[in-house]
Amino acid sequence: MKFFVDTAEIDAIAELNALGMVDGVTTNPSLILKSGRDILEVTKEICDLVDGPVSAEVVATEADAMIAEGRKLAEIAENITVKLPLTWDGLKACKTLSGEGKMVNVTLCFSANQALLAAKAGATFISPFIGRLDDINLDGMDLIADIRTIYDNYGFDTQILAASIRTVNHAFESARIGADVMTAPPSVIKAMVKHPLTDKGLEQFMSDWAKTGQSIL
Ligand code: G3P
Repeated sequence: MKFFVDTAEIDAIAELNALGMVDGVTTNPSLILKSGRDILEVTKEICDLVDGPVSAEVVATEADAMIAEGRKLAEIAENITVKLPLTWDGLKACKTLSGEGKMVNVTLCFSANQALLAAKAGATFISPFIGRLDDINLDGMDLIADIRTIYDNYGFDTQILAASIRTVNHAFESARIGADVMTAPPSVIKAMVKHPLTDKGLEQFMSDWAKTGQSIL
């Protein structure tokens, strides 16, 4: 499973990248706002830091303007993935930009039918939003599983990018179902290391080691 980091915070990306945990980055207008940075500048910095795909989202809502914005974003670096919303205009822009050989991430996906349309339009990635479905008492994991089944039924190449991941369980379930990629905030990726029995076991080992009076170095 590929790990994308869902943030525009350079320091957080660099910390995880140094551990080989970053296969790509996803941003969106809300994350750019949170970073307080200029979109073109911060996106370029991220692209210089990370080898894998870096999603940068258009903000136009009409296809021609989305295509123009997508082309401009794609000029930032070779690893830019143009992020487009799952609307009819977004699908038109997806078809055009993917036809030009650009990577496209179709975002704000909340149904399997939407994911099917995005695959038909040539999306490189589809981003189903797990947490936001859970927010309205639906099961985001069912959507990941349904898209996996449909894409496998027909051999679509579009990669399932599990997004809006809020918990370590979302991460685990996405991997179990077979999402190709997950994008998660740095806090969730770091929380995946935690287990109470690891902490307890380490405490015991440290305590017993102290009693030996030995040192390794
Ligand atoms: O990748 C999409 C993600 O940023 C949305 O997450 O937590 O705002 O629903 P969230």
